Amino acid sequence: MKTRMILIGFLIGLLITLFSLISCNGIQTEKLFQNGIVVCADPISAEHGLEILKSGGNAIDAACATAFSLAVTLPRAGNIGGGGFAMVYLADSQKVFFIDFRETAPSGSDATGFLSGERKVDRAKATVGPLSAGVPGTVAGLYEMHNKLGRADWTSLVKPARLLADTGFITSNYLAESIESYREELSRFASTGRIFLPEGVPIKAGYKFAQKDLSRTLGLIEANGRDGFYSGEVAEAIEMFCAANGGIISQKDLLEYKPVWREPVLFEFRDLDIYTSGLPSSGGVVMGQILSMLETYGLEKYTSQSPEYLHLFTEAARLAYADREQFLGDPAFAHDFTEELLDQQYITTRLQLLDTERATPSTEIMPGVPKRQESDETTHLVVADKEGNIVSLTYTINLSYGSKAVVDGCGFLLNNEMDDFAIVPGVANAFGLTGGEANKIESGKRMLSSMAPTIILWKGQPYMALGSPGGSKIITAVAQTILNYRVFNHSITDAVNAPRIHHQWQPDILYTESGTQGIRVIQELISRGHTVKERTPFCAVMAIAYSKEGHFVTGAADSRRDGATVLGF
Ligand code: DON
Repeated sequence: MKTRMILIGFLIGLLITLFSLISCNGIQTEKLFQNGIVVCADPISAEHGLEILKSGGNAIDAACATAFSLAVTLPRAGNIGGGGFAMVYLADSQKVFFIDFRETAPSGSDATGFLSGERKVDRAKATVGPLSAGVPGTVAGLYEMHNKLGRADWTSLVKPARLLADTGFITSNYLAESIESYREELSRFASTGRIFLPEGVPIKAGYKFAQKDLSRTLGLIEANGRDGFYSGEVAEAIEMFCAANGGIISQKDLLEYKPVWREPVLFEFRDLDIYTSGLPSSGGVVMGQILSMLETYGLEKYTSQSPEYLHLFTEAARLAYADREQFLGDPAFAHDFTEELLDQQYITTRLQLLDTERATPSTEIMPGVPKRQESDETTHLVVADKEGNIVSLTYTINLSYGSKAVVDGCGFLLNNEMDDFAIVPGVANAFGLTGGEANKIESGKRMLSSMAPTIILWKGQPYMALGSPGGSKIITAVAQTILNYRVFNHSITDAVNAPRIHHQWQPDILYTESGTQGIRVIQELISRGHTVKERTPFCAVMAIAYSKEGHFVTGAADSRRDGATVLGF
């Protein structure tokens, strides 16, 4: 018996090594896991997710536990006061589900509170304080996702986060540095200062960081599910805090908040089926346009950092982001242009504007005319379990530490997502994005997002799952990672860590990450007419990829961010 066990163990080991060696896209150098994987922005939270997988929970359960945990360990982005989107693949039915838990504009919202002149947006009002917050969707979204697709007991998913907030954890360098760099903003509200700057001083690395109020709030969510947040004392506290600080979220808004199951955007790229976010995120439509345009050019003849490819990518992004501005918004309030904008004939027409040699100034690129048919914070996590289920989830409070306003007594930050609306049409938001009628502020409406949690299937089997923070740059970061992996044959680690570029039509600037592109490439891009600007590295892609046979999975967490972790077993 013992010899048989040893032999089986040896054979499994041999099999793993063999698959590692022959697997596609160079993933042979990376660690492969058979039983489950968590990729997220913090090691403690990755551990919390992994524990759930190990104790028999599925990927949906583990994603919920990881998300609650990140609300404690990564306060600048992890949250219960924000919202997001998740893509879920169920191995059993081979179906993909997409849940939208984006924030909504509180009732009574309009642009006036954010203006400082007739056509001027007051940046501070749009991004700081409770008026900048949409009605949070995270708790309702996680609860709904778990109710429909989870398996483990709800309380077991919130408990680890609640305990961690209560006992505290040792502050890492990156958390301390991040709090220090937002020192001034985090002192603006006493309720926020008390947490991040006790006695007026930012918490330091090595300090045991406990968040007692947050722990109590998590306790109510643990015991009462979504009601623990959207009614009772937390809802009362949100309403009171908002009213006292210029915000307008009411208990009624909270009670009425609903996450929505939607059809994901699905498009083909080569032999892959790419499932990505639909409206009210622009992520899927814009990425679909970029990749469909690039399909035309037989990219294999280039390398992932060649000026020829970078030029084509930029021009495709310029065209796609021009359409984003004009056509996209919450489909409950504006016509849903997804189909029209991804229509192959329309893409072909738009391609006539793409000059393969020279940059076309953005002022010469207007949004297209699709045939209308009648009829610097976010975080991404990916979890997969041994049955083959996957969750790819992006959630956010928008900018780092959201509105900087902690709901007094509840210990969590409110988002500043109202800035993602086109407060004044044509006037740029924090990400330099402009928008029009489709994304104007209206009560109950979801503000347009760029989040792009993505799951990719190859011949019906899981191939890759990924996503990123980075505001408007999310879409180009995810698109480049897919191209790096599928077209340029990078390993998943290299695909995630390779230098990136970004262009979003307006401003007409091609962004590169400082120090990553050789001078020759930059000069070549400038000589093609691009205005190139370097900036600090952007986005933080979290990704997993499967061996060709689908049995083994590996992951990569962007080395641009401290704390980003891959754990598996
Ligand atoms: O929904 C959006 O597109 C933005 N609110 C996301 C913000 C973001 O990714 C910030 N991260 N660095």
